[in-house]
Amino acid sequence: MNYARFLTAVSAARKPSPIRILTDIQQRSPPSMISLAAGAPNPNTFPFHSCSFQVKNGDMITFDETMMKRALQYSASSGIPELLTWMKALQKYLHNPPTANSAEKGQMDMCVTTGSQEGLCKVFEMLVNPGDNVLLDAPTYSGTLAALQPLGCNLINVPSDQHGMIPDGLKEVLSRWDPADVHKPHSTVPRVLYTIPNGGNPTGASMITQRKRDIYELARQYDLLIIEDDPYYFLQFDKPWAPTFLSMDVDGRIIRTDSFSKILSSGLRIGFVTGPKPLVDRVVLHIQASTMHTSTFPQLMVSQLLHGWGQEGFLNHWHTPAAGMFLWIKVKGVADTQKLIMEKAMEKEVGTHTQSILYPTGPPVLWAPPQLTHTLTKLIQPV
Ligand SMILES: Cc1ncc(COP(=O)(O)O)c(C=O)c1O
Repeated sequence: MNYARFLTAVSAARKPSPIRILTDIQQRSPPSMISLAAGAPNPNTFPFHSCSFQVKNGDMITFDETMMKRALQYSASSGIPELLTWMKALQKYLHNPPTANSAEKGQMDMCVTTGSQEGLCKVFEMLVNPGDNVLLDAPTYSGTLAALQPLGCNLINVPSDQHGMIPDGLKEVLSRWDPADVHKPHSTVPRVLYTIPNGGNPTGASMITQRKRDIYELARQYDLLIIEDDPYYFLQFDKPWAPTFLSMDVDGRIIRTDSFSKILSSGLRIGFVTGPKPLVDRVVLHIQASTMHTSTFPQLMVSQLLHGWGQEGFLNHWHTPAAGMFLWIKVKGVADTQKLIMEKAMEKEVGTHTQSILYPTGPPVLWAPPQLTHTLTKLIQPV
């Protein structure tokens, strides 16, 4: 693919920062290397010595003095190597992208971003010029609109329903243009399509597999890039999880944003951009010139957690019932759920069981049919 035709003038003008390149080299060098190049401060002067965190499963994540110095220091703009390596292996395992092992220009690459929002914002800046036609499903995530609207593009809504964007609707929208005009100078044919394929915000819609295939084919016909914004991928309730656009990407036209906000922490601000190397490189150049890198500290924290868990531990981190009528809720900060149920819940005409009734010596636990959990959550909050 000719990626140059997708870049805005601003993105195309970005050049690597010599200082950032040195930081990258330094990060990959032995710790004994003395760098007089990039302006890295002496971490011996920083006030923090070491730290440890207890994971809910009882494991400990410990930053000894050496690790702490690294956590507090500048690091590479694309992300710390061990986190990137772990995430690349996960992407290959989950999506088996056709571009993962290709030696072609569109080979899959990744970078760490400060939440997926940073990735999205930088991807839009890389691809969208004032006056460009951008395709998306409506309504869509307000953070996307906040990033796109100031770029002065025309947002073209593609019809969608509970199964996501409708391929025939997209075909109809695209029929305003001739695919033969796509590569002509000053063509107004859209070059970018944005979609949230799972648990859409705010619609909750999830795109079915055949629609993804049909939309990918239309993208090939009109030489579109697809931005697959998928922060809810890991929150799909039905198994097996739906195949992603990335898994179908034979050409290298998918830019995927992933987020750990919904499953590990939103405050740590860890997200990822996955896509063809020439485009990921452009995002990294923008990072070099703006935030320089996502904070090293949370990257190391998440990396240690993931290496400790392994892929299986990570994928088993949350549990949703596959069947039945019941949900088991552990109520934190409430010493006696019996009182909560017998007084507060009954007052609001909500009936349920507590483990204190079933097992009087156990921890405080509520046991309720799923249709009551929303009501229960409301009850529990003010306690
Ligand atoms: C669809 C969608 N994309 C991206 C984001 C940004 O997430 P974060 O920057 O925390 O990774 C959100 C957050 O709610 C979202 O709903």
